[in-house]
Amino acid sequence: MRTVLAISSLFIATSLQALESESRTELPPQGMDKAMLGQILFFDKTLSFHGNQNCATCHNQDHAFIDVRDNSAERMVSLGDDLKSFGKRNTQTMLYGRYVPEFHFDEKLKEYVGGQFWDGRALNLQEQAGKPPLDPLEMGMPDQLSVAKRLWQSPMHSRLLTQLYGAGIWEKVETVYASMEDAIATFQKEKRLLAPFSSKYDKSLKGEYQLTDLEQQGKTLFFDKNQTNCSNCHQLHTEVDHKEETFSNYRYYNIGVPSNKKLIAHNQLPEDFIDNGLLDNPRVNGDVNQKGKFKVPTLRNVAVTAPYMHNGVFNELRTVLLFLDHFNNPERKLNPETKQVWSEAEYHPTLAKDDLKAKPLTDQEIDALEAFLKILTDERYEKWLK
Ligand code: HEC
Ligand code: HEC
Repeated sequence: MRTVLAISSLFIATSLQALESESRTELPPQGMDKAMLGQILFFDKTLSFHGNQNCATCHNQDHAFIDVRDNSAERMVSLGDDLKSFGKRNTQTMLYGRYVPEFHFDEKLKEYVGGQFWDGRALNLQEQAGKPPLDPLEMGMPDQLSVAKRLWQSPMHSRLLTQLYGAGIWEKVETVYASMEDAIATFQKEKRLLAPFSSKYDKSLKGEYQLTDLEQQGKTLFFDKNQTNCSNCHQLHTEVDHKEETFSNYRYYNIGVPSNKKLIAHNQLPEDFIDNGLLDNPRVNGDVNQKGKFKVPTLRNVAVTAPYMHNGVFNELRTVLLFLDHFNNPERKLNPETKQVWSEAEYHPTLAKDDLKAKPLTDQEIDALEAFLKILTDERYEKWLK
């Protein structure tokens, strides 16, 4: 095979030899497809510099794909492959990620929509999958070339990549990297594991589960725009009870989340640190009106994915509900977790004041909303419900 291998001179000798060998061009093992390769890569520590972590380290498949390792940051944020670095944002579930649209500016809404990460800085799942390996606070590989080399050096990976994407990918580092991204993204679009729609809510839509009175009341409250504002932001489809509802419109808002003093102290950030949110996304071209806005998270499995918000500032789901109500209810004076009055928004100027307006909620209504959020837990994760 006369493929020109431009990856690096280091590669050339071994590569040509190997490409000629049968083992790298035979048919993939039966049924092996891009999603399966993506799954292998997802669980593979060779993509991290010290070999300490894979994607699943921070996105645990047994726990709704969040990071449940104990750490000095009380799990508000995740520990990197170097076993000393911490990021500044809470690790999201990647469940239902296939439904997030590509990052774009919606001309009708005059708003940014979609993208991966809290600030949408990855266009889509492909682009997202390439970020953690090169993030110094996560998997810590120095560059794409070093990742491509690791993939090449593993006989299994190089064989599968060649079989599924063609020997031509080895001509350029970028095409090796893009193939890896594509495989991981394809895995993340698998429905069985990553978008199972197996919660009690889903079962109730199929007539396989009967909501309790409290759950039904919570559901009604959640979707009734005259009573709450939740569905203005946490509803994708216009019709209620759409069978693929993901509970996010994938738009960006500043809902006044306070800065997380504990995290700031832990990460030794400046005391007045503000997370820019959407402004960190290069595609918004430095538009300061986007500062402090974050992507609306899905509410599927939210009852088992504490702590909450982009900075993990709240531990309990109920606190999130009380926090949202405090904008409208003068009785909600104290944050039950700190026993202090609610702190100011981390960043004020872009606060979504009008969008946060709603009728005040009673304690009983908070109970109902909480009960509703709990039934959005997929069956596999119900064991983690408190
Ligand atoms: C060290 C922990 C860590 C590792 C390792 C890690 N992630 Fe993440 N992941 C995070 C954090 C933290 C965020 C949120 C970061 C942000 O928004 O800035 C995130 C966000 C995501 C998102 C976006 C979800 C959304 O709703 O927007 C996806 C998808 C994702 N990760 C997939 C992966 C894949 C695939 C890998 C492996 C290639 C991986 N992650 C490795 C911590 C990690
Ligand atoms: C104006 C849009 C908007 C409204 C209205 C709204 N939310 Fe949210 N919600 C968001 C955004 C944006 C975040 C993430 C904010 C952040 O981290 O800075 C969020 C976060 C959450 C979280 C935490 C999720 C996580 O994984 O950390 C829960 C739970 C939640 N909302 C439930 C609700 C409920 C219930 C209602 C109605 C009572 C509601 N929201 C109303 C936009 C909204």
